[in-house]
Amino acid sequence: MTPNARPLLVVDDDDAMRQMLASFFRDNGHLVEEAASADIALERARDVEFDAVLSDVRMPGRSGVELVGELRRIRPGTPVVLMTAFGSIDSAVDAMRAGAFDYITKPFEPEAVRLAVERALAYRSLEEENRRLRRAVEKTAKLGDLIGESPAMGEIIALLKKVGLGRSSVLITGESGTGKEVVARTLHYHGSRSRKPFIPINCTALPEGLLESELFGHARGAFTGAHVSKVGLFEKADGGTLFLDEIGDMGAGLQAKLLRVLQDGEIRPVGANHSVKVDVRIVAATNQDLDAELAAGNFREDLYYRLNVIPIHIPPLRERPEDISALVFAFLHKHSSGRNATISRDAIQWLERQPWKGNARELENVIERALALTDTDEIGVADLPTAGSGPDPTSVANLEALLQKVGQAQFTLLELENRYTAQVLEMTGGNKVQAARILGIDRKTLYRRTQRRSKGDESPS
Ligand SMILES: Nc1ncnc2c1ncn2[C@@H]1O[C@H](COP(=O)(O)OP(=O)(O)OP(=O)(O)O)[C@@H](O)[C@H]1O
Ligand SMILES: [Mg+2]
Repeated sequence: MTPNARPLLVVDDDDAMRQMLASFFRDNGHLVEEAASADIALERARDVEFDAVLSDVRMPGRSGVELVGELRRIRPGTPVVLMTAFGSIDSAVDAMRAGAFDYITKPFEPEAVRLAVERALAYRSLEEENRRLRRAVEKTAKLGDLIGESPAMGEIIALLKKVGLGRSSVLITGESGTGKEVVARTLHYHGSRSRKPFIPINCTALPEGLLESELFGHARGAFTGAHVSKVGLFEKADGGTLFLDEIGDMGAGLQAKLLRVLQDGEIRPVGANHSVKVDVRIVAATNQDLDAELAAGNFREDLYYRLNVIPIHIPPLRERPEDISALVFAFLHKHSSGRNATISRDAIQWLERQPWKGNARELENVIERALALTDTDEIGVADLPTAGSGPDPTSVANLEALLQKVGQAQFTLLELENRYTAQVLEMTGGNKVQAARILGIDRKTLYRRTQRRSKGDESPS
């Protein structure tokens, strides 16, 4: 039995019948109010919102059918179930025409009336859910895939709309998983360069030499193995946007070369004796503290100022809990694969109180996992990871669970490694530093491993 916060209203001028029904529903766990006439019912309905109304049709004064009509006006969301006399087809038709949710004919079994009322209540909560979803969608600020309801996200969205038309460099900072890449993509796809390529490249992924020829290309014979010349990403991104992710990891030599490109607007492929003009907008991102890197002399100050023309800082998710419900609904939609999945209010409230060290990415993982694990279409608090007891991925129980999942299937060692890596990443909420530490490998190795599994849209081969 679903506990109902709001009462049910039973309307009947026949005292015995009304009291019998009222106590029947009370025994079934409902709060119940009684009214001996349609007028009394309407008066109560003006003050109180009922979950459902069960009413007799034939009563002195206003009839049950008239009650339905009036209720539709003042409480359009409240379903009414009418009780009509056996054989009175007319009043049944009238009842439905007036907008009753359902009717049952007298005499009836208690079970029949219980079922009709339960259906009305289920309908009612579905309606409410839909209204809640519609409201959530309506008040969400949105630009492409980027959403948020917090003032911080609102400002970012407004800024993106404005600077999307120019070509000044943008530096996006924020903790891991805060949405730096979505912001970069949104800037590109909703700006004046959207018809030209958006090319992301991760500066951590490649050793400096390779990164340089990826970015600038190389001439034939530029180095051993360079049998053919190669067009660099700068040229491929011409007219569009180059997204330099994890810029804090770029080595000193490349920093100097990048600075030159930003100053001159041209690139020189490795080993070539000519330069090529390029029109590329640079959007860089980092989750490191670049100020500290500057102070330590690891990052060039002149390059920093060239990149940081338009700074965009994304605050950690815990500082903008207003964004959580909107993100949750977006992730539900993204991962429910056509299922009509929703989430309880309690679950949302619980999510809003979590620290989200892995920010939106961690939240997304939690929603994706809850969807995979629940049989019902509503995610409840019980489907979410227990507070504060994030599972230790190296525990025996976890390894056993993993092996159980492997089950009968034939898995290669590589596949097992991939799955374990993914599990550890999920448990650290996408925090690569932490995950690499648990896995006992360095961050670059972890990065390459995750790339092996997922292909970015135009990342270098
Ligand atoms: N405001 C947002 N609206 C919609 N989706 C978001 C938002 N913020 C984050 N996400 C989603 O969260 C996930 C992580 O975002 P993203 O990859 O952009 O983070 P990041 O800051 O680049 O992380 P990292 O520093 O680890 O690379 C993505 O699936 C992204 O779509
Ligand atoms: Mg990123």
